[in-house]
Amino acid sequence: MIITRRNLLIASAASAAASLLASRAFAAAPPLAKKDTYKVGFAQTESNNPWRLAQTQSMQDEAAARGWQLVYTDAAGSAAKQVADVNSMIAQGVDLIFLAPREEKPLIPAIMAAKGAGIPVILLDRNVDQSLAKPGEDYVCFIGSNFVEEGQRVAEYLVGLGGDKKIIIQLEGTTGSSPANDRKKGFDDVIAQNAEYQIVASQSGDFARDKGRQVAETLLQAHPDANVIYAHNDEMAIGAIAALEAAGRTAGREDCLVFSIDGGREAVQLVVDGKIEAVVECNPRFGPKAFDTAVAYANGETIEPVIINPDEMYTPENAAELLDTAY
Ligand code: AHR
Repeated sequence: MIITRRNLLIASAASAAASLLASRAFAAAPPLAKKDTYKVGFAQTESNNPWRLAQTQSMQDEAAARGWQLVYTDAAGSAAKQVADVNSMIAQGVDLIFLAPREEKPLIPAIMAAKGAGIPVILLDRNVDQSLAKPGEDYVCFIGSNFVEEGQRVAEYLVGLGGDKKIIIQLEGTTGSSPANDRKKGFDDVIAQNAEYQIVASQSGDFARDKGRQVAETLLQAHPDANVIYAHNDEMAIGAIAALEAAGRTAGREDCLVFSIDGGREAVQLVVDGKIEAVVECNPRFGPKAFDTAVAYANGETIEPVIINPDEMYTPENAAELLDTAY
């Protein structure tokens, strides 16, 4: 055939129509067949703290209680390994994948690969970049806490306390992760509206106790007048308390206020002891809700794109009473 401009136009219009049809055919997240039992994957991000261990335990307990097969992987703090873990689950032919994406962007190809293989994905606890993948289209839904609100609650509590503790060091979570981005945003926005409060340093401690301790040590040396530490999770807050004590300072109302997010038993005990001022809970017990959502999806029920876990706040007023409910 002779290639003319008209032929080219016809060919390109046909190809555009075909891609539009293809994208429409795949516009919704893949379905989940109704079955008595399932083989599902749970791609965990790391296992280096009590929060992650509690989340994994909850998923394993729920799978066992229902008699479902759980393919469990631990990405050991590597987004690249987590992508490989999801690909391996696809190769093993799981029915559905529960994914706790370590960071917002690097896990997008894994979500798209699962979608391409016709395997639905439910995101647990951490979210992905919403401009690159969407609930109801690329994955079924997100189940987790409202991280922006968590950061806001800490800042509002601090401002509500009044007093002279206004020079703040922030210990951020893993760079590029949704809890680090959102907990910072929620906190910073409230502080920005209260001009007498000042965030003098904000740096990542990677959600880890020892990294949190090291970063707090450096930042306390650079800002010896700091009298508030806001850590994005319990582990870094506990590390920061060690850094304060090593510097001859005291965690608590008489010297430096410490705040954290998560609500593990060790941190809630520190609220009782007066070393942590308050902890906003981020509930890691995902099992029942995650598995119920998968069943509802298989039954054809409408699934909300974002399912938010309600969270407590542990303060000196209620910490002793609630201690036994902490994970
Ligand atoms: O995504 C939730 C966060 O991840 C928790 O706050 C933190 O402890 C965990 O590693």
